[in-house]
Amino acid sequence: MKALSGKFAVVTGGGKGIGAAVAKRFIAEDAAGVAVLDYDWAAARAFAESVGGNVLAVKCDVSDREDVGKAFASVYKEFGRIDVLINNAGITRDAMYHKMTFEQWDAVINVNLNGVNNCCVQVAAKMREQGYGKIVNISSSSAYGNVGQANYSAAKSALFGFTKTLAKELGGKNITVNAVAPGMIDTDMLKTIPEQVLNSFIAASPAKRAGSPEEVAGAVLFLSCDDSSYVNGVVVDVNGGFIT
Ligand SMILES: NC(=O)c1ccc[n+]([C@@H]2O[C@H](COP(=O)([O-])OP(=O)(O)OC[C@H]3O[C@@H](n4cnc5c(N)ncnc54)[C@H](O)[C@@H]3O)[C@@H](O)[C@H]2O)c1
Repeated sequence: MKALSGKFAVVTGGGKGIGAAVAKRFIAEDAAGVAVLDYDWAAARAFAESVGGNVLAVKCDVSDREDVGKAFASVYKEFGRIDVLINNAGITRDAMYHKMTFEQWDAVINVNLNGVNNCCVQVAAKMREQGYGKIVNISSSSAYGNVGQANYSAAKSALFGFTKTLAKELGGKNITVNAVAPGMIDTDMLKTIPEQVLNSFIAASPAKRAGSPEEVAGAVLFLSCDDSSYVNGVVVDVNGGFIT
């Protein structure tokens, strides 16, 4: 029996990057079904077709509450239940704070914070009823503060308190809620960081390299399966020892 045998999972922003690596790992660990929710429909579909297994591509903007409701309804219809929710969809709109526009602020908060709430709301009551659930929120090492990312840092650090509170509220129902805070991970998101800045981060990092999406997926898997049954409300840093 593998780590996720018989389990149904939802991975938001699973069309590429870290989310795709997580979804792929879940299928390799025998998940009964993985729904990939992404607003990039083409990417989600192409990914689902490339992986094989029971991967369901669902078009969904996590910042749109109505859209999220419809997407989860379609997943429940297809799978019957959701055991694991990975809140991974995220964006950056970087700017120094004195130049940051309200549009940049709102966009990041709406996806990276409100989007997580929109999805948790869809599963919390049902996980309580089924007496089982695993929620993993993808935060970031930028949660500890990072120049040019006041919006992103605010959203990602808010996930710490949110995660720990849900862990306390839902823990008695056999539900764990944890967070993963990746450092520099080699995805399209990293390409938005100026090369010089990125090189200085890498030079300051004990690992002297960026991490891979698969290295994040390993930590997410641990928090998504029963190996972590007594781990609740924690933040796992996956950053090669680099603290910003
Ligand atoms: N790459 C890094 O260095 C890094 C570091 C720390 C944290 N993270 C976090 O990891 C998560 C995944 O990042 P990534 O590097 O794989 O990024 P990515 O840009 O490669 O992939 C993000 C995915 O999320 C989807 N997405 C974005 N907004 C969405 C929305 N509103 N609704 C649905 N889907 C949406 C995109 O279409 C894309 O498929 C994000 O939450 C990000 O903040 C990334």
